[in-house]
Amino acid sequence: MAVSTMTKALAAFAVSAGIVAFAAIQLAAPGGPAGSRIVDETVTIGGPFKLTTHEGAALSDTDLEGTPFAVFFGFTHCPEVCPTTLWELSEALGAIGDDADRLKVLFVSVDPERDTPEALAAYLQSFDRRIVGLTGEAADIEAMANAYRAYWKRVPLEDGDYTMDHTASVYLMNSEGRFSGMISYEEVSDMRVRKLRNLARL
Ligand code: NI
Repeated sequence: MAVSTMTKALAAFAVSAGIVAFAAIQLAAPGGPAGSRIVDETVTIGGPFKLTTHEGAALSDTDLEGTPFAVFFGFTHCPEVCPTTLWELSEALGAIGDDADRLKVLFVSVDPERDTPEALAAYLQSFDRRIVGLTGEAADIEAMANAYRAYWKRVPLEDGDYTMDHTASVYLMNSEGRFSGMISYEEVSDMRVRKLRNLARL
């Protein structure tokens, strides 16, 4: 590269670096609309909860201090998304070996009317036995789902029965209870395994 060309290239780099630095300062400015919006999106997923496990024990967020965990909202009468996800999580737990014992996987029912601890226990026998089912008072489940910004909705069926629409992603929370990523529905197996293995160390 000729000297003059290199000088031009360096000058161009300096200009673009300056623009990047300026943009970063704008975003980080306290009270700035862009900065505050970004903070909102990163700190408010997750929060306190206290529910009952499929074994009938109380479990709260404080019990999980120091333990990374994955959270999935669903219900045992789910025709497809929940069994598929629980099966895929079971497969991933098996794939990461001993790391699976360093984290918890929570299946939180958004259908407490039908999902008693006993119903959850029977349902979870089909999956990795380390998956913890959670249920409880509707208001307590609603508070947790809201804290995780999960979507769920009761949908009446023609025969008088009902089903539930719900968020299909798995929330990944680090050992401090902070949101650290998601596993999307039917994400490729390798990626799912990698994310769970990584979570075990967060
Ligand atoms: Ni489901």
